[in-house]
Amino acid sequence: MKILTTKNIKISNRLIDQIIGQDEAVNIAKLVAKQKRFLLLIGEPGTGKSMLAQAVAELLEQNKSSIFDILSLPNKEDPYQPLIKILPSEETENFIEQYKRKIEKAYLFEKYLFYVLYFVSFFIGIFLYILYKGSFQYILFSIGFILLLYLIQKYTIKNLGNAYLPKILVKNSPNKVPFIDATGSQIANLLGDVRHDPYQSGGVETPPHQLLEAGAIHRAHKGVLYIDEVSTLSIESQQNLLTAIQEKKFAITGRNPGSSGTMVRSKPVPCDFILILAGNIEDLENMHPALRSRIRGYGYEVLTNTEMPQNKQNTYKLIQFIKREIEVDKKIPDFSFEAIIEFLKEAKKRSGKKNYYTLKLRELGGLIRIAGDICISENSSIVSRKHIKQAKILSMSIEEQKRIRSTKNES
Ligand SMILES: Nc1ncnc2c1ncn2[C@@H]1O[C@H](COP(=O)(O)OP(=O)(O)O)[C@@H](O)[C@H]1O
Ligand SMILES: [Mg+2]
Repeated sequence: MKILTTKNIKISNRLIDQIIGQDEAVNIAKLVAKQKRFLLLIGEPGTGKSMLAQAVAELLEQNKSSIFDILSLPNKEDPYQPLIKILPSEETENFIEQYKRKIEKAYLFEKYLFYVLYFVSFFIGIFLYILYKGSFQYILFSIGFILLLYLIQKYTIKNLGNAYLPKILVKNSPNKVPFIDATGSQIANLLGDVRHDPYQSGGVETPPHQLLEAGAIHRAHKGVLYIDEVSTLSIESQQNLLTAIQEKKFAITGRNPGSSGTMVRSKPVPCDFILILAGNIEDLENMHPALRSRIRGYGYEVLTNTEMPQNKQNTYKLIQFIKREIEVDKKIPDFSFEAIIEFLKEAKKRSGKKNYYTLKLRELGGLIRIAGDICISENSSIVSRKHIKQAKILSMSIEEQKRIRSTKNES
């Protein structure tokens, strides 16, 4: 029989199958992806909430329809209400190319006019040169004039044309379902904004459609919008988020009261996404009741587990977890049998309960990485028990370090 090390452990390449100890949450996440529902994940930090949300996006990938880009276009009738266009991602480039040609056509007269002017200036220069018997200054003069014409053409006509090109508000890659993490976002970041234009109403203003900035809700269109620490969202943000998930579209307008951007309000911008909110139990109190009720009405609430019973299956899952962390990190070697046993002991200890493993796996992952780093620093090829023991000391929190130092001082 081969000795068990993490070398002979296989892990799934699907994120959803890599999540351990959260079977209920995993099953619900699958439903959420399949039925396009909302989800509220409550639980301790580092138990897999972000991972679950990312797994939902990955699941969407398997039966994805099209991935879309969102563009803004000038509105001839009312420039302050830019038009919005949504296109399958692979068509965007072509669309803009054609739009460019259309604009070039509109400026065709100006273009030829400049060609004629170049020509005329050139010949007048030559003519005067010949007339005044080789006086070189006329040639220089005509070259200077042509240069001036060129600059005028470049900075007026061409700039004008480019300013009226569509602006890409949201660009996706054609084979990737968007996963947008908007944790800690300010309202403008969440809902979109209109940049301030200092030249507004001065005649050289930027066309308003160029000033629009998409929000996280728009970038998440047809994908997942994830927001952790939900209580840090302002009530105003939560109210607007509620509107966005009800309407599945949300106009972009200036969010800064003193800015010229408040005069601009786009046509509705699509924002049809799976909303996944997360937080801890205390966060629930600061959640907008209407938003929470909407999620319950059109989705699920799940509490993630903080520990799991110690049994054969769960032990194997934890070993797979070690392997996953090693593969994700890419910088640390495999674990020996003794290292695995020592690691499992620590996972048990950290649960604070008899016959349970902790599921605060972010911190446990930290232990794996520190042990790996120690191993590397010693030029060893496999992580041993000794490395785990040293890692435990190194991975102590500041509070623990302080506590140990003070008990040492007392004795
Ligand atoms: N249930 C889990 N299964 C596997 N790995 C996990 C799990 N929970 C956390 N982890 C590990 O910890 C890291 C942080 O987890 P994360 O999903 O961000 O936790 P949370 O969002 O709940 O704070 C993950 O990238 C993963 O490496
Ligand atoms: Mg997280």
